[in-house]
Amino acid sequence: MNIAIRRPTLGPDATAFLAKEHKILIDGKWVAAQSGQTFAVEDPATQEVIGHVPAGDKADIDLAVKAARRAFESGPWARMTPRDRSRLVWKLGDLLEQHADELAELEALDNGKPVTNARKDDVQGSIDMFHYMAGWSTRLNGETITVSKSDGNWHAYTLREPVGVVGQIIPWNFPLMMAAWKLAPALAAGCTIVLKPAEQTPLSALRFGELIVEAGFPAGVVNIVTGFGETAGAALSEHPDVDKVAFTGSTEVGKLIVKAAAGNLKRVSLELGGKSPAIVFPDADLDVAIAGTADAIFYNQGQCCTAGSRLFAHKSIYDKVVEGVAAEAKKVRIGHGLDPKVNLGPLVSKEQHDRVTGFLESGRKEGAEVVTGGKVHGNQGYFVEPTVLAKTNRDMRVVRNEIFGPVVCVQAYDDDDLDAVAKFANDTEYGLQASIWTRNLKVAHLLARKIKAGTICINTHNFGDPAWPFGGYKQSGWGREMGKEVMEHYTEVKSVAAKLV
Ligand code: NAI
Ligand code: MG
Repeated sequence: MNIAIRRPTLGPDATAFLAKEHKILIDGKWVAAQSGQTFAVEDPATQEVIGHVPAGDKADIDLAVKAARRAFESGPWARMTPRDRSRLVWKLGDLLEQHADELAELEALDNGKPVTNARKDDVQGSIDMFHYMAGWSTRLNGETITVSKSDGNWHAYTLREPVGVVGQIIPWNFPLMMAAWKLAPALAAGCTIVLKPAEQTPLSALRFGELIVEAGFPAGVVNIVTGFGETAGAALSEHPDVDKVAFTGSTEVGKLIVKAAAGNLKRVSLELGGKSPAIVFPDADLDVAIAGTADAIFYNQGQCCTAGSRLFAHKSIYDKVVEGVAAEAKKVRIGHGLDPKVNLGPLVSKEQHDRVTGFLESGRKEGAEVVTGGKVHGNQGYFVEPTVLAKTNRDMRVVRNEIFGPVVCVQAYDDDDLDAVAKFANDTEYGLQASIWTRNLKVAHLLARKIKAGTICINTHNFGDPAWPFGGYKQSGWGREMGKEVMEHYTEVKSVAAKLV
């Protein structure tokens, strides 16, 4: 099928940003990479080059870490009151809001995602994150401690201090929002940062960098170095003067980060892959469950770490669920993400397109039934059809591996015992999210306790909120982002004991 994809016109602000010569942000200044090298940024819907950004590497990471260290140890940031820090973090949320439409357009263009989703989820989620985290600057309290040997002559307490220079390495599936999830709490805590965006989607982070400068953050507090994982990312994760690295991406690279961090035992937090189950009980509101589980996998072209990629339907409703999700897939409007009528854009890159089509091929070979989709869409850009694979089983590669595309594997189950349900839900090396679809709240909450995953959704999926701790069990990661829990990532606890003599 020959489908010509045209890029819809961008607004004036996004157009002006695209026309700029892109630089990296080090110590408050926009500079080229030391090597002078750049790499091309692509529109994944048309495969057109939409810009070039600096290919930062070890030399640039070194300069950025030096700037972050200086800003952490001395100068206006080190002396800033929690109140003023809070105001700056809040102001950055306001600036994101003022430029929301422009940022949504850049995100849709660079990542391929539908612009309407980019505006209401990615950009709004980023605004909300800064506004929520701003409050933490003034709430980072220690505790007074009653020591067990106290004879009344001890005063013991804890202090909560910023962890220091933080390296943050983020992926391409929610480029701006991942930057916000990382930057907002680290800034609220008083850390300084070197951020490395994903090479597939560097644009929104660079525009964000301009807003960080405009907000008035002192030089060196946030440094943004675009570059590749194997060069800039690796240099950041092994850097001896980085106190902590926060990473979101593949489980494979997560393990490399852990090894790289061993040199100076920097603190590590990881948000990694998933193969999240969505479990539909016979008593579920099927209209809600079908629409919800379809969205759980097709949203963001299936490129969500929490995507509901293993769909389990009780055998009494299995046919209805398969038919219903397939009907939802057929309703999806595929096209350029910048077209407001589109709700499924291209995958982010050729690499991702090859990965997903490879899994479609392997699913077929292993005997999955392709109920709908299963093919690439058009002959330009990285589109694949939303796909429902039925009659799948636990041994298939498509069921065991994170596909990271709009491909759901449906399995029927006939157990009524919750332990048996939990067993198949937990039959994965991952543990990021699970969703439970039922009208029986007792069943839902009991099952929530039995599933080994960091986040459980009841009658919804892909839920996230700045106040709701988020992270994984098992190989889905270490630590929790958001809520008060994220402050553990960006602070150290210092214990003080005084003998009152
Ligand atoms: P990736 O894990 O290679 O990339 C994520 C980030 O890590 C990027 O900024 C990249 O430059 C950086 N990176 C890569 N190699 C590195 C290294 N050796 N040291 C330090 N940083 C490094 O993910 P990729 O290759 O883009 O996607 C592969 C698969 O990973 C996807 O198909 C998906 O299954 C999974 N993934 C999961 C994500 C999540 O949200 N949990 C996000 C992106 C990918
Ligand atoms: Mg990779």
